[in-house]
Amino acid sequence: MSSNQKKFAPEWLLEPKDINSIEQSVWPSGLARTASGDVSIAGVPVGQLATQFGTPLMVIDQNDFFARGKKVKKAFDDAAARIGTSSKTYYASKSLLTTEIVKWIDKLGLNLDVSTGGELALALAGGISPDRIGLHGSNKSLFEIGKAVTANVGTIVIDSDIEIERIASVAGAQDKIQAVRIRVNSGVHAHTHEYLATAREDQKFGIAISDVPALVEKIRSHSHLKFLGLHSHIGSQIFSMDGFIESVRRLLPLHKQLLAGGEVPELNVGGGFGINYTSADKAPEIEQFADRIADEVAKICSELEISVPVLCFEPGRVISGPAGITLYNVGTIKDVQLNEDGVSGVRKYVSIDGGMSDNARPSLYGADYSPILASRVSSAASVLSRVVGKHCESGDIVVKNCYLPEDISPNDLLAVAATGAYCHSLASNYNYVTRPAIVAVKDGSVQLVLRAETEADMFARDPGYSEE
Ligand SMILES: Cc1ncc(COP(=O)(O)O)c(C=O)c1O
Repeated sequence: MSSNQKKFAPEWLLEPKDINSIEQSVWPSGLARTASGDVSIAGVPVGQLATQFGTPLMVIDQNDFFARGKKVKKAFDDAAARIGTSSKTYYASKSLLTTEIVKWIDKLGLNLDVSTGGELALALAGGISPDRIGLHGSNKSLFEIGKAVTANVGTIVIDSDIEIERIASVAGAQDKIQAVRIRVNSGVHAHTHEYLATAREDQKFGIAISDVPALVEKIRSHSHLKFLGLHSHIGSQIFSMDGFIESVRRLLPLHKQLLAGGEVPELNVGGGFGINYTSADKAPEIEQFADRIADEVAKICSELEISVPVLCFEPGRVISGPAGITLYNVGTIKDVQLNEDGVSGVRKYVSIDGGMSDNARPSLYGADYSPILASRVSSAASVLSRVVGKHCESGDIVVKNCYLPEDISPNDLLAVAATGAYCHSLASNYNYVTRPAIVAVKDGSVQLVLRAETEADMFARDPGYSEE
């Protein structure tokens, strides 16, 4: 590649020594190149998957998902046990949810965090015991609260004063005692994208620390509510321990203050544990987060002379994200001439048959991803490229900065790594594009988890539409 093109690449993006190589840190453990040069996942060639299910297609490496789920649960269990308490891990279902995923979460012994009536309905349909479900949401309707209490969900996280009365009245009407947490806006800013950071003062989530004691008193005044403890979620895709440490430093003195008025058995520190999307990312291992948080909790509890509460966590992305990939078919290709400060270069724009409708994260957050040519190997040179979608937005980008082989061509298959989390969940029908299928692959076999949306599905709500 000419040095001119490097001018148009971000500093973090390294040109691969071998354009056909697989960067282990971003791909599921079951993904490999076969002897014939194409890529297989859990022993199933990607070409076979694309032929059978069409593209775009989300493929989840089931063994990889399970390995991550086990590792995360064990990390939190071990860290909690080491400081003399126990842990509860809630899989954040907003990252990826289907009834099959609920079954996996159940098998893994994890709890499940849902945020809406829709996620709750799917969780219940997936068969997990309701007492293992925690309901979140910053604006739960009475209807959603009613559904949750009727279903006997384990916990509800209160996000505003209004919800206290709502939950108490529904629980009272059913003569039940509903366990609740209270979400705190701790003012901690996790080092992540602004829209991914959720515990700063000027945003919609949670209750200011100064307002919490009065609200907890209110909760305790209702005989149909049981207060479990504080909850904080400081953001998502976090690599640094600092935010979590600062968060527990702010929450535990408040936790101690609340102990004066009754029991506070648990402390929920939320999710947000980051993953690798590109070779430049170096996400800490989940054990590092677990141990560091647990050590800090133990230290502060000892300083405050209080017993260590049960620790709760809500990881989503770190379980579902790296286990999923998306397969796309390559369509049109353009070499776009670049010119900046008198320096010229070329960027190859590679269009695929999906885009921001199946992966909104690059356009929402400027998220980076890593692609590979998956249907064959190439001996061509690597060229600075951008993978773009088929939608009517110039921001419809799936991979903003990457290297692809110069000879990439229409009908090649492209795989994009780490799309398991917040891609299907955020998918849309923009431009009336149907949403992709999801398949799970394991030990050479394939299971359809969610069929591809059809035009009939998409247009079913339009009374004037009829299929030819
Ligand atoms: C309250 C809450 N808990 C947990 C999560 C999961 O975050 P992540 O998938 O980054 O672990 C989120 C994500 O936004 C959240 O809002």
